[in-house]
This record gives sequence, C-alpha cells and structure tokens, in this order.
Amino acid sequence: MNYTLRIWRQENAEAKGGMVTYKVSGISPDSSFFEMLDILNQQLIEDGQEPVSFDHDCREGICGTCSLYINGRPHGPVKGVTTCQLHMRSFKDGDTITIEPWRAKAFPVVRDLIVDRSALDRIIQAGGYVSINTGGVPDANSIPVPKERSDDAFDAAACIGCGACVAACANAAAMLFIGAKVSHLALLPQGEIEAERRVMKMVECMDGLGFGGCSNTYACEAECPKGISVTNIAILNRGFLTATLMKQKEKPSKGESF
Ligand code: SF4
Ligand code: FES
Repeated sequence: MNYTLRIWRQENAEAKGGMVTYKVSGISPDSSFFEMLDILNQQLIEDGQEPVSFDHDCREGICGTCSLYINGRPHGPVKGVTTCQLHMRSFKDGDTITIEPWRAKAFPVVRDLIVDRSALDRIIQAGGYVSINTGGVPDANSIPVPKERSDDAFDAAACIGCGACVAACANAAAMLFIGAKVSHLALLPQGEIEAERRVMKMVECMDGLGFGGCSNTYACEAECPKGISVTNIAILNRGFLTATLMKQKEKPSKGESF
C-alpha cells in the first residue's frame, strides 16, 4: 500500500510550524499506524533528515500517551481505538492522510506532533485522588458496593487520560476527562466522602489552565477511544452544584459572629 502523508512539522514550541508532504510505499495493510510512521522515520533518517516526533509508549491502548489528529479526527477514523491500535487497513491504497497534533490552548505543541498534556496531570494533582487511608485489599473487599455502582465506576475508570476529548471539543473543554475521574472515585465508598471537595478543586484548577467550557456538543463522547459517557459530565455538574451550595451554606450570614 502507498500513501501520501501531510504531517505537521514544528521544530519547537516557539517555531512557526507547517504541513510537510511525504510519500511512503510498500506498507503492509497489517502495519499499525505507528509502524508506518516508524518506516517513514527510518526513511527520513537514511536521507539525513530529522525524523517526525510523536508521542507513544505502550502501543496497546492502555497508557494514554499516544495522540495524533488524523484526517480531522482525534485517534483517526475508527471508533473506540487509540492511535496506537489503528491499522493501515483502515485506509485505502493511495490515500492522502493528514496528521496533526492535538489542537487546544491548554496543550501547547512541544515539537512536531507532540503536545504538552501536563495540564491534565495538574488537574489530577489538584484533587483526583483519595487521601484517606483505605487499608489493604482485604479491607476494600469487605466493603460491599452495589453492582450497578461498581460497574459505573469501572466504566469511568477506563479513561486513559489521552486528551482526545479536549482535542475533539470546539471549546477545548476537559469536562469528559474530569467527569470520568470524579465519577470513578465518587461512586465508590472510599472516594465518596471527599467528593465535593474533589470536584471544587479539580474544576478550579481546570478553569485556570486555558480549557474552555462545555456546550454539550457530545463530540468528546463520540471521539473518546474508551467510550466514556457524557453521563459522567452530568455527575460532575451535580457534584459541583452540591459543593457550591454547601460552600454557601457554610458562609456566616450578615451580623453572625463566631
Ligand atoms: S475521557 Fe476519553 S478521550 Fe478524554 S482523556 Fe479520558 S479516555 Fe481520553
Ligand atoms: S501508546 Fe499507550 S495508549 Fe497508545
């Protein structure tokens, strides 16, 4: 199979980037998308040119490191797969494939196709954890969790933090990501107790990082490789409302002294 690749090249964060066209030929339809890029890079190195920089780690759809905006869609044309799980048989022989980095203010380009997604880590650091002592495995197993809740928590925990939801969103909102993290902890007894505090801290952190607001286009759900549901955004919004009301209730009223 032969392809024409239009790839975003950018030397560093400050440099002006642009699309560069390359040709690759003799690619097996069973090659993964990254194996195809590896072949291109080998070709570039042999020609004395700089290889294309792109993020990857597990190449098994687990770690969330890979990204790539392929033909205008985060993670490419196949629903429910990450870029590392995409295969060249999903494209036709002779296709032109356009490859860009995630585009979002909160994800600045570092080089070529690599963006800085540490904003998502900062949101997790702000509150995406359980700070109480939950004991060991036997302790966890001794606390019964209704099946429906544990299933929902497990589904939310499937989020790999790739950032495709942000890249897909016209507003570059991170609500699906935060919704997934909030839900998977709040639905379990060990995480429930800190739910309100967690929501407030994560949303406050998100607001300062350049992400946009959610306008319910559902593009995030449509492009999420792990099928995270927008229901998690509803859980997040409900948690945020509860936390805001509780905060207001805690404020001393006028004339009241402590
Ligand atoms: S919600 Fe989906 S698209 Fe967003 S970071 Fe998690 S896995 Fe990636
Ligand atoms: S490289 Fe780990 S999910 Fe794609």
